[in-house]
Amino acid sequence: MESGRRHRFSRRFWAWAGAVSIRTKVLGIVLALVIMLGMGVTIQVRAALLSTLTERLQAQGISIARDVAARSTDLILVNDLYALHQLALETQANNADVRYVFVLDTEGRILAHTFGEGFPMDLLDANTVGPEEHHRGVWLRTDEGLIWDVAVPVFEGQAGVVRVGLSERGMRQTMRAITSQMLLTTGLVSAVGTAAAGLLTWILTRPILSLVDAAKAVERGDLTRRVERWADDEIGDLAEAFNAMTESLERAAQERAERDELRARYVSGVIAAQEEERKRIARELHDGTSQTLTSLLVGLRTLEGTCVREESRQQLEDLRRVAVQTLEEVHDLALRLRPSVLDDLGLPAALGRHISEYNQRHSVKADLVVHGLGEERLPAPVETALYRIVQEALTNVVRHARARHASVLLEKRDGCLRVVVEDDGQGFDVSTVGRDSRHLGLYGIRERAELLGGSVKIESEPGRGTSVFVEIPLDESPSGDGAETERERAPEKGGAA
Ligand SMILES: Nc1ncnc2c1ncn2[C@@H]1O[C@H](COP(=O)(O)OP(=O)(O)OP(=O)(O)O)[C@@H](O)[C@H]1O
Ligand SMILES: [Mg+2]
Repeated sequence: MESGRRHRFSRRFWAWAGAVSIRTKVLGIVLALVIMLGMGVTIQVRAALLSTLTERLQAQGISIARDVAARSTDLILVNDLYALHQLALETQANNADVRYVFVLDTEGRILAHTFGEGFPMDLLDANTVGPEEHHRGVWLRTDEGLIWDVAVPVFEGQAGVVRVGLSERGMRQTMRAITSQMLLTTGLVSAVGTAAAGLLTWILTRPILSLVDAAKAVERGDLTRRVERWADDEIGDLAEAFNAMTESLERAAQERAERDELRARYVSGVIAAQEEERKRIARELHDGTSQTLTSLLVGLRTLEGTCVREESRQQLEDLRRVAVQTLEEVHDLALRLRPSVLDDLGLPAALGRHISEYNQRHSVKADLVVHGLGEERLPAPVETALYRIVQEALTNVVRHARARHASVLLEKRDGCLRVVVEDDGQGFDVSTVGRDSRHLGLYGIRERAELLGGSVKIESEPGRGTSVFVEIPLDESPSGDGAETERERAPEKGGAA
């Protein structure tokens, strides 16, 4: 219980002490020490001074009163009141601490005093001394402060009593002067200490602050930042370690960038080759296989006309149907490999064709909305990339989504092309995609978009459908027959899409 409280206290203390800067901590420690030392010494000195000065005042009072008593004996005996009065006045004048002197006879009547006109009668009984006593001193509280009143018998009490009052005001003044001197010294030492501590912490924290600065720059991605080694101490070692770390980070970043660049070139080459190959096979199917099949069909029809046997005619009819079906399949295959409409009429038309075939072939119903694109043609690499992206996203809907509807939005806005493919299917956990090397579709979508400087965002949650957002910046250079030029360049660069 007790240790728990102590633990909590120390945690709170460190939370508080840790929240302020090193400079504040050092300044605080220096100031607290100087002020504590100054105050302690001042209090000690004041106490010692008070007791010494009080003792001296008391001794001085006794000695003055005894002196006046000795000198007034004869004057009382010869009843020389004038001289007695002079003696009292002289004694007061000679000592600044003496507030009053008065002499009483044995009956307690006042023989001489220094009060001028009005003698304060209550003073008479404030202090008395017996004849056998040496002296008696008491502290009297008056309007002027404390008065040390000493009574000394004259001629062993046979001639009267001398009373002397000494004020402690002088003593207080001395104490005040010394105290203010000491406080002034404390203040001066505090100021010098603060300045010295400020300089020290500046020297100490400067390299640390420059390290913090550099670390923030590294966090922002500036790996070229280095810090200066200020001194050969621990902070200097830290600076060196920091520089070594940023150097190796920079090297690693450079190597990564080179690797990325190589990979991008490789991927772009592979995609270009793939696109070329698809084009070639599509052309081959169209120009070669389709033509051969068409010739076969024509031949079969001619044969059918000349054939007389019903059985053979039936067989020829069947063969012709097979040939027609094969021709359609070859045509479909050629279209899927590389639709010529993409090259001839552009992306919206090619997507429209693809979606209508998709709707015929699958139970999922897809629709296409195009915004902001007129008759203008887009750069060939962008058209190819977006066509393949939509193709893959729609294939995924059929294969994985169990959706009833899918929609494709193609939009040109703010110098960017956006494509969104959405479905109302079962969705999936996006965070798991990309860990399995067997799934390349979404990876390919991302690759194609990134090769054109674009980005891909996939939003999906199990049970809530999937949306694939693709954004590709458009280089707004004048098009016109530029589109054609792009089209011709497509095989080397366009395939890169
Ligand atoms: N529209 C979608 N609805 C539900 N799940 C999807 C959808 N699209 C992708 N997925 C999930 O993401 C995974 C990765 O898709 P990806 O296209 O990368 O690979 P794949 O389709 O499995 O294989 P392939 O490499 O042939 O495309 C899929 O296996 C599927 O689980
Ligand atoms: Mg896929």
